[in-house]
This record gives sequence, C-alpha cells and structure tokens, in this order.
Amino acid sequence: MTTSSFPDKFLWGGATAANQIEGAYDEGGKGLSIQDVMPRGITTAPSDAPTDDNLKLGAIDFYNRYIDDIALFAEMGFTVFRFSIAWSRIFPMGDEDKPNEEGLAFYDRLLDELEKHGIEPLVTISHYETPLHLARTYDGWSSRELIGFYERYCRTLFERYGARVKYWLTFNEINSVLHEPFMSGGIATPKTELTQQNLYQAIHHELVASARVTRLARDIMPGALVGCMILALPAYPLTPDPADVVAAMKTQHDSYAFGDIHCRGEYPGYLLRYFRDHGIELDITDQDRDDLRNTVDFVSFSYYMSMCETADTSARVTGAGNIFGGVANPTLQASEWGWQIDPQGLRVVMNDYWDRWQKPLFIVENGLGAKDVLVEIDGVPSVEDDYRIDYLNQHLVQVGEALADGVDVLGYTTWGCIDLVSASTAQMSKRYGFVYVDRDDDGSGSLERYRKKSFFWYRNVISSNGASL
Ligand code: BG6
Repeated sequence: MTTSSFPDKFLWGGATAANQIEGAYDEGGKGLSIQDVMPRGITTAPSDAPTDDNLKLGAIDFYNRYIDDIALFAEMGFTVFRFSIAWSRIFPMGDEDKPNEEGLAFYDRLLDELEKHGIEPLVTISHYETPLHLARTYDGWSSRELIGFYERYCRTLFERYGARVKYWLTFNEINSVLHEPFMSGGIATPKTELTQQNLYQAIHHELVASARVTRLARDIMPGALVGCMILALPAYPLTPDPADVVAAMKTQHDSYAFGDIHCRGEYPGYLLRYFRDHGIELDITDQDRDDLRNTVDFVSFSYYMSMCETADTSARVTGAGNIFGGVANPTLQASEWGWQIDPQGLRVVMNDYWDRWQKPLFIVENGLGAKDVLVEIDGVPSVEDDYRIDYLNQHLVQVGEALADGVDVLGYTTWGCIDLVSASTAQMSKRYGFVYVDRDDDGSGSLERYRKKSFFWYRNVISSNGASL
C-alpha cells in the first residue's frame, strides 16, 4: 500500500478496560462493580456476590503490574494507550458525595507512567463497569438520578486529570445497551422483563449524561476532546431484494441513532417514528433538549466484524457476534468464536461515519480473539500468531484506504494489546494481545508476560508509520 496516507500525527496504540485487566477488585477502597458478579460474561445471569471462578476479580493484575506493562507498550512504540477508569474505584457505591482518594491516586500513578514514556492517554469514563450498588438500588440508567451521579464522577475526573488527559470517551459502545442492558447500562431488571419504554428512557438518560459532561469538559478542560463510542457492526442486505435493503437500513439505524444524537444534538426522525409506532413516550425535559445540543468533538468506535440483514424471517438465523450478531454473510470466514472477518467493512464504516457526521474518527477497538499456543523460540517463550498479524494487517490496509478516501482519522488502538479477560465470555483463552499473559481459564498461571510474534510486527508498523503494512 502507499504509506503516505497515514498522517504524521496519527496515534498508534492499544486499548483495554479496567475490569478486564486491573484485578484487585477489592483493593484500594474499590467498591463492587457489575463485572464482579458476571463470572461468565453475558452468557449467564449475574451471581449474587463475587465468586472464585470470576477471572475478572484478579484479571491480569495490571493494578500491580502497570509499570512493566506500560514499558512493554512503550517498547512497541505506542503513542496512545486507551484504558478505562473503574467508576467504583473512584466512587465505590456510585452515589457518595466524596470520592475515594486511593482510587484517584492509582490513576495519577498510571498517568505518571504514561507521561514518562510520552504516551497519550485516551480515557473511557464508563466501560461496562457501573458500580453494582447503582445497578441494584437504582436499576442503573433506568433512573434519572444516574445522570447526577455520573456528572459528579466526571467532574471529579476532569478536575483531577484534566491537565493531563486530552482525549475522553463518555460511554463504551453506548449502543450495546439495546442488547445487553445489564452489562452496558447497569440495568438490573432482566432483559426479558424490560419494556421498550423503559429501555429507551434509560438510553435517554445516558445520552443526556453524555452531552452534559461534554459541556462540563469544555468548561473545566479547554482543549480537551470528548468523543462518543459506538459499536460499529455494519449490516449489509443479504440479497439485492429492496426489502432486504430496507431491513439492513433499519438495523443500521439502531447504531446510527446514537451517533446522530451525539453529533447533531437531537433525536433523528426515524427514531421518533419508531417511538410513535411502538407507543413509546419518553420523559424528555426542556433542559434535556438543551443539554443534548452539546455535541461531541469526535466519533470513536469498535470494529471487529460485519453482518447481513434480511426481511425474510425464515433466513434470519442470528449468528455469533460482538455483543449481538446478525445473519451470516456467505462470503466471509469467521473467527474461532464465529465473528465474521471483514477488513473491507472497516473502510465502509469509516467512509460512512465520516460522510454522515463530518467529525474526526478514532478507531479505538479492532482485533482478533484467538486461542494462542505458547512455544519456545530460541529458548524464549512466544506465540507464532501469524493469524493475528494477518487480521490486523488487512484491517490497517483498509484504514489506509479510508485515509486516502479523505476520511479524517485521529488514531487506531487495537483491542486487548495485552491478553485480558473477555467481556462476552469472561475467558482468558480468548486472547487479543501482542503480549501473552500466562493465565488460563481455570485461573492458574504465573501471570508472566511474553512478547508474541505480533509484538514485533506492530513495532515495525508503528515505527514506519504504516509503511510496513
Ligand atoms: C467490545 C468491548 O465489545 O469487544 C470490549 O468494548 C470487549 O470490552 C471486546 O472485550 C471484545 O469482546 P470479547 O467478548 O471478545 O472480549
């Protein structure tokens, strides 16, 4: 590919989330988060209390090993690192007046380390880790009160870290709440009992909160950039039948709606129609409408796969996917977990989002979950993960194509730059990293870190600013 398409200031790095790497779930004054009772990810109902089989409780012990891990990221040449702040480290219950100083101090130290290596932080404020108390007592984002709690949490972060953090994301994959209301929105009411009315009201609260803290960020941190974060899963029509095209359009609307509101500051007509057609009447105050006008500075998204849609219900077999799946595309191969691999889909999404919103994009998740085998190469433990290199290389070539198409892109962070616990399945064996972490699904392992083959591949990509792709 031509290399000139990657701009000089393009940010290269990796992405993680607190609950999937930190461990230390009850250290440093941290309260419980919803993840502490999700031992099997989204595959089973939450437990009543933390259980020993929940790998996230210890995760990869980043809480105690962050100095060495960040040194490994620096060795690859990262210029950006995406991590989330665990809400329940800062406000253990979520509804207190005063934050937990020990939690705040941990992220000070983490930021010190990034600064030492000249790595730009990219902070997710809420990544699937709502304080459990907010889920159990308030039914998560179903309650309007969450807006105030979230605002207080954000104010604390902005005042403490505002001088050091430029890039902020308000909610990870905000559209995923349509599919996983507990993990995404801390909504304790079981999915099967949740009405569309209640779900969309909860979404409204999140959207208002996101817009409000965008305004707050501007007041407190001039120069900071706030982005929304969308789970991008493009839906192609399964056939050229116009009915399939309309079915695909409607599925696309489910994700577009979140970007439209974040970028345009109001509800789009197709969503208002959906509310009318389904008898949904939201409580939207004048203040809410005003708040929503605080639109984001950039749009970030995760991209792993695409799917198809069809109007033919007999053909509508839902396949596996990132939080939600769709109709399988007969032209694509899938990962070991059934996620359909589509590098060109990334170019499509990028052009689509750029054309639609005209806001800079940030690809903050992309990667391949695979079962790695540790081998010895010249006496050093490593993984020959050519499959991961192929996946990432093909996707990055498409990022280059989109840049050449004129799309404005701030940067790219691969998901799980170091092996971590999976969100959907809570497995360790679903590995994404450039760095192998010695921990197995049964919790055993030394937690030692080893560089995989992809570690050296990515180092070359970064040092050549994409020329080696
Ligand atoms: C995204 C999430 O949905 O996909 C991450 O933001 C998650 O938290 C990633 O880990 C990969 O999904 P999984 O289920 O393979 O961990």
